[in-house]
Amino acid sequence: MSIYILGIESSCDDTAAAVFCDNVMLSNVIAGQDIHRLYGGVVPEYASRAHQQNIIPVIEQCLIKAKINKKNIHAVAFTRGPGLLGSLLVGTSFAKAFALGLGIPLIEVDHIHAHVLSHFIVEQGNDKAIPPFPFLCLVVSGGHTQIILVKSHFEMEVIGQTIDDAAGEAFDKGAKILGLPYPGGQMVDKNALGGNPHAFTLPEPAVGELDFSFSGLKTSFLYLVRDHLKINPNFIEENLANLCASLQYSIVKILTGKLENAVRKTGITHVAVSGGVSANSALRSALLQGQAENKWTAYIPATVYSTDNAAMVAVTGYYKYISNRFAAQNTSPYTRT
Ligand code: KG4
Ligand code: ZN
Repeated sequence: MSIYILGIESSCDDTAAAVFCDNVMLSNVIAGQDIHRLYGGVVPEYASRAHQQNIIPVIEQCLIKAKINKKNIHAVAFTRGPGLLGSLLVGTSFAKAFALGLGIPLIEVDHIHAHVLSHFIVEQGNDKAIPPFPFLCLVVSGGHTQIILVKSHFEMEVIGQTIDDAAGEAFDKGAKILGLPYPGGQMVDKNALGGNPHAFTLPEPAVGELDFSFSGLKTSFLYLVRDHLKINPNFIEENLANLCASLQYSIVKILTGKLENAVRKTGITHVAVSGGVSANSALRSALLQGQAENKWTAYIPATVYSTDNAAMVAVTGYYKYISNRFAAQNTSPYTRT
């Protein structure tokens, strides 16, 4: 029997829903929230309000696109955390009401778990390679930077992580220093095009073999820009591409260097990347370059599955459904891992 799952993601500033038939995607809808652009970052209170406004239309559209009646859904999966409390509460409460109203089970999903399992999303008519177990997954998002040893759909071991900022934060803070609009990571990527990645040298952190640190890099970047601005007030405009390319190069070098260490240490050569920063063009190129040099086999998600989406929640929900992992109606969100 085919299992139909509705997935809901509302951990930060994207209201998203997806319908899956088993592990195959039928629809995937995302409503972003432009309001945060005015403030240069996500404003939690506005995010919760926008989720409230968006959730019903997003789910309705998602069911229409999947050509499915809600009565045919077998279970509803939702992101329980980590994320912003007000944002998570909207998706959680909606999922509970939906499940209760239809008398179907509720499935809680961890956001990072979902980013890892985004590699198991199957699109109709597109047979993309799925990583075999065990594989290494570099999860790089706005709040997390981890290397995870993935042994099965549910058995995962964090073997390395950041001791301070996440890679996404390094991109976002770098963008802010340059006066680029939110969302910063994407803007750095865009403006790095044609820039010289070796124009400015930033320090590499001295941390454990598999751990990350980005706060030193951020401070060095801030001082570099500040010192040059004292001499030349047009320094940023005149060097924007080189600054973005150099910042991006340094972050990507740290990420791929740690992945190389993880491959050497574990002997595992199947390497996947997930989370918003995996949309970065330089990181994607570096992973493909590593594959061309026989360092690993790379698994890179389509950009729509790199950044926050509900397809990854629905596919995780499917794997939880077939192993009877359900949530209770009194489940409440968590903000941190
Ligand atoms: O996974 P995600 O969408 O949300 C979280 O779970 O945090 O990741 C968001 C992060 C942000 O820091 C954003 O700047 C970064 O992913 N990001 C990028 C790119 N697209 C999104 N960073 C670098 N290059 C990109 N193209
Ligand atoms: Zn995320």
